Amino acid sequence: MHYGTLFLTMCGIVGYTGKQQAKPILLEGLKRLEYRGYDSAGLALSSPSPTIQNFVIQRNAGPVQGLIDASTKIGLSETTGIAHTRWATHGVPNETNAHPHRAGNIVLVHNGIIENYAQIKEKLQHIGVQFSSQTDTEVFAQLIEFHRVQILKSDTTLNEEDAVLRALKKAMSEVDGHYAILFMALTIPGKLFGVQNGAPLVASKLKDGCLIASDIQAIIPYHNEVCFLPKGEILIVDENHFETRNLKTDKVSVPKIERMDWTADKVEKNGFETFMLKEIFQQPLVVADTLSGRLPSDESGAFIWDHFKAHEVLWKNAKRLYLVACGTSYHAAMTAKYFFEKWARIDCQVDIASEFRYRHPVFETGTVVGVISQSGETADTLAALALANQAGVSTFSICNVPSSTISRESGFHYPTMAGPEIGVASTKAFTAQLTILCALALDVGRLRGNDDLASFQALARLPHDIDRILKQSETFIQIGAKLKDQKIILFVGRGTMYPIALEGALKMKELTYIPSEGFAAGELKHGPIAYIDPNVTIVTLAPRDECYAKTISNLEEIRARGGHIVAIGTEGDEEIKKISHEFIGLPASAWGTMPILSVIPLQLLAYGCAKALGRNIDKPRNLAKSVTVE
Ligand code: F6R
Repeated sequence: MHYGTLFLTMCGIVGYTGKQQAKPILLEGLKRLEYRGYDSAGLALSSPSPTIQNFVIQRNAGPVQGLIDASTKIGLSETTGIAHTRWATHGVPNETNAHPHRAGNIVLVHNGIIENYAQIKEKLQHIGVQFSSQTDTEVFAQLIEFHRVQILKSDTTLNEEDAVLRALKKAMSEVDGHYAILFMALTIPGKLFGVQNGAPLVASKLKDGCLIASDIQAIIPYHNEVCFLPKGEILIVDENHFETRNLKTDKVSVPKIERMDWTADKVEKNGFETFMLKEIFQQPLVVADTLSGRLPSDESGAFIWDHFKAHEVLWKNAKRLYLVACGTSYHAAMTAKYFFEKWARIDCQVDIASEFRYRHPVFETGTVVGVISQSGETADTLAALALANQAGVSTFSICNVPSSTISRESGFHYPTMAGPEIGVASTKAFTAQLTILCALALDVGRLRGNDDLASFQALARLPHDIDRILKQSETFIQIGAKLKDQKIILFVGRGTMYPIALEGALKMKELTYIPSEGFAAGELKHGPIAYIDPNVTIVTLAPRDECYAKTISNLEEIRARGGHIVAIGTEGDEEIKKISHEFIGLPASAWGTMPILSVIPLQLLAYGCAKALGRNIDKPRNLAKSVTVE
């Protein structure tokens, strides 16, 4: 396992070869993958006729729609093609740096980073290879092409395909990095070649051809049987063939097919104005799905986990827990710290994954490392997991994509059942993470002799309570819209409400671009209170929990300085209603479930504010869904 700098780009790849017109399939796939990156896009198309004239390439700066508009007149008959939507790492997002990149006979798209690209580029330039872009991707294409030409020169009996495969292997042996590439060789019409080294590539055999993508979202509308290309195998497909070839042994195999239970309607908007709104409204179902089959079915009160014995051994021996994640998933980890310490009485430390790797964590007998990730591909989280695995301690993941690297490489996997999350700002994945973490910590608490019946009962009621909250969604959206001219928005809470305040601030800043900060309410007077004046909004989380009285005191301090207060509390709480300008009442719930309920109005406040500002809600600027770059 590699612990150095993990650099992966977050782009989307699609390829098709078969009997149908390739362009519409590729563009449709790119639209579905656009959440991975949207600063430039391109496609290359060819026909199964061995003339280079039958080849066309189109690249554009800007989102996929620009490519769709620019390509109306091309690709009307071509049946093979590759396409790409980019999140720039090397080279500005312009047309020249957009993929596909062509080097002679090779036309290639790439997701990932070639770490030693500068050295390879220099070597190739030294021997006369001309580059047209600033990307590391072009280096890969040029390297394969360079070797292909050399190999054919030294063995004129070789056929084109064998030469390309040998060139690919040689190039891969020289390239350092984590990547997936898909390419065509113009002299081998109708064929596509793909390899992955740490970034996913998924393929599916359709009735009339083959579809390949960096993510199943682009495949699911066509077929639910897919193959996740393993490392060390080359995918080789054309209209009739669907095979892999081992990089070392050359052994040809039929790819292992897995059936996915994600259906096409799960990746459509289904009448909602945005994916994010659809995902917010899916939360009752997602929480129910995540709990389905897990709630105790007998007197023992034991939750039901896959590989139950291993689960029991893991937690019986646990002495110290590290929870590691990034962004929203990190906020889930922070919330879970309160759960594990209160119920399970396990010393729990929470780390941002990019920090964990560099702070020399102490691993000893009884240490358990849990990583939390929606995508299962986040580079920093993956590196933290690798570090723990190498140290030989027990690891587990809470992850939404069972086929992802994080799910596969963790010792134990507790799946969240949020289904595909397309909106770049995470919503349903977060509530699913909190749900499973709450269930897990309750269960570990039970194993260690601590029960919290109220939280347990409230957990089973969660889908119903979330549903009730969503009935007020219009009100929350309107309150959010009123915040659109704020210069800064603050979010405060105590206890489990502190990480939820951080999550509220994260949702607000990423969707609206308004500076938003979250604080532990008790910290206000140690500095942030300097922000408060009548033009500043403070969203305060104050459910009737053990911190209630203290939070009310903090609210009074804010009120005394004229701050505009939006309070989120328990339904019917007249006291807090009196001292706030806007009050959002949530159903009374238990300590363990209140954070899950409290985040829902925060998602909708951010949504309403972003909508009033006319922001691109599903694709906020500069962000990408799957952050596979360090
Ligand atoms: C924010 C958001 C990000 C992700 C973070 C980790 O709305 O979505 O902060 O939570 O990039 O991603 P995963 O959970 O895929 O590891």
